[in-house]
Amino acid sequence: MSEHTQNPPRVLRVTDLDADQLAHALLPAAEVLRRGGLVAFPTETVYGLGADGLDADAVRKIFAAKGRPANNPLILHVTDEKHASSLSATWPERAQALADACWPGPLTLVLARSSVVPDAVTAGGPTVAVRAPAHPVARALIELAGRPLAAPSANRYTQVSPTLADHVVKGLGARVEIVVDAGPARVGLESTILSLAHDPPRILRPGTIQRARIEEILGVPVGYLDDAVDDDAPAMMSPGLARKHYAPSARVVLLGEDGATWEALCEASRPTALGAIVTRAPVPAGVHTVRLEHTPEAVARGLYAALHELDELGCAVIAVQNLPDDEAWRAVHNRLSRAVS
Ligand code: TXA
Ligand code: MG
Repeated sequence: MSEHTQNPPRVLRVTDLDADQLAHALLPAAEVLRRGGLVAFPTETVYGLGADGLDADAVRKIFAAKGRPANNPLILHVTDEKHASSLSATWPERAQALADACWPGPLTLVLARSSVVPDAVTAGGPTVAVRAPAHPVARALIELAGRPLAAPSANRYTQVSPTLADHVVKGLGARVEIVVDAGPARVGLESTILSLAHDPPRILRPGTIQRARIEEILGVPVGYLDDAVDDDAPAMMSPGLARKHYAPSARVVLLGEDGATWEALCEASRPTALGAIVTRAPVPAGVHTVRLEHTPEAVARGLYAALHELDELGCAVIAVQNLPDDEAWRAVHNRLSRAVS
């Protein structure tokens, strides 16, 4: 084990605090950020691994802690559109309309960058991704730190994103100085990423804010980025779309595909355990089962925690029930297909 993982990070628990208590509790975290250190913090989607987004050295620590290639740009987390527009070269009407309708919330906008944004954040590219998170703890921390926070999901590269502070502590250990713990993430899957650098705009990563909603706000049709992104290509359109991503240690298999029957899966998982994530499907006795409510929102909220939990139980194989193939489930399918590959 590396020296980094020997000591656990400091955990700041910030549940059930009023605004003043919260600001007080977050002071040590803001202090770490201001001196260029790393703080993991809750957002409504997943926990983020934050650093001062205007300090290139601090930002480089994020890549080191995650083991993430430097060609994969980061999202800057801001308080509002005024803050966001200070980081982009332009603030188009479309950005304003989307910010009015969806911010603070799980929508990330890709825009032409301003020169104040370090190359380390944009991976040297011409655009910057910005998002105003809805979580009150994230908002308070950005304000206290007094700068935009660069933050990817707070997991090691290609692993499952954290929806609990405990996932961060187990995944990153002392690679992060402070973990701010505000309980489980409400949304559970990463934000929708929309490129306004394209005309018409394009969804680079589907999330819980869906295409129909974006089209309604903008009044123009919106496309998706072609899924076939090469993992190794530099200056990728959106490197998070690389195929192997969001992957637990276990092999994830979709039930019903290519002879993936319960019998075959039990056999394949020997001598360790078989796990299952289902909504409606019956599961044979002896399988470690996480049952989620059959709605896209509930599966989004519970999927990553289920993968973490079954991984920790040592399951060699995790069977996931096939879910409906319509637009409302798109973000869930997007993450599942990456966990499988
Ligand atoms: O919900 C979320 O978005 C979470 C929370 C912490 O805010 N963050 C998150 O960050 O998922 P990350 O780094 O794990 O995923 C961000 C994705 C990556 O795939 C990255 O390549 C892409 O956004 N991205 C960042 N900047 C970009 C840019 N300028 N152009 C295109 N894609 C960009
Ligand atoms: Mg990520």
